[in-house]
Amino acid sequence: MLNREITVFSSLEYLSRAAAKKFTEIARTKISHKDSFAVALAGGSTPKSLYKLLADENEPFRTSIEWEKVSFFWGDERCVAPDSDESNYRMAKETLLQPLGIPTENIYRWKSELDPATAAADYEKLLRLYFNAAEGIFPRFDLILLGMGADGHTASLFPQTDVFAKNSNLVAAPLVEKFGTHRLTLTPQVINSAENIIFQVAGQDKANALREVLEGEKQIENYPSQIIDPPDGNILWLLDEAAAQNLTINRSYENVSGSLKR
Ligand code: 6PG
Repeated sequence: MLNREITVFSSLEYLSRAAAKKFTEIARTKISHKDSFAVALAGGSTPKSLYKLLADENEPFRTSIEWEKVSFFWGDERCVAPDSDESNYRMAKETLLQPLGIPTENIYRWKSELDPATAAADYEKLLRLYFNAAEGIFPRFDLILLGMGADGHTASLFPQTDVFAKNSNLVAAPLVEKFGTHRLTLTPQVINSAENIIFQVAGQDKANALREVLEGEKQIENYPSQIIDPPDGNILWLLDEAAAQNLTINRSYENVSGSLKR
């Protein structure tokens, strides 16, 4: 791991603003170096305020990035139609992609309307093609955005599911017992190949799992977010006070607090 940083904010609003600044910084750097930027978006609810900030005409981010050079992927997806209100694609389309006018050819969604195995195989093929990644090679995203559930899952790497095997797969379609459905997800190997990872974790309900993930014993099967540890990448944890309340790191109570480099 190149750099691991944890920063705690007094609210989701300040957390999201910090995420937008970091997203913009990484995107501008990558676009200046290679004229492209490949990002895997997170689903759920936490990232909505980041996406709205990035697309907001009254904020500086929208005009700071050459959006036509950005390719959008998803770290995971539910096995639902793309217009379902459960769809991570739909959430990002409504809060980010449509407001920015992102062309379809820059949007690489999971075909989650297909059966899980077919959708997974299709995304694996899409990733290998885009990143020119032959068998045994893992795509290196410029940035992967992640959230964390109250059970310590991230993307769709859930506790006690068969997603932790070390293999050359880029994606998985695990059956998640508690939902009684399959999910679609990038594998830990692909996530850990990223150059930059930003976790956004907010809310009281995450506090217990977050302490286990960041400061507890290694129990990957119980707290899958522990597996996210990019050997050749930067990982930034952006937390709000409520989620960070059980952590031992020092923090001030202003909008942006000190960060802890490990
Ligand atoms: C999903 C996400 C998932 C999410 C966490 C946190 O498909 O739901 O990818 O991993 O990031 O469940 O969700 P919230 O941000 O809604 O708390």
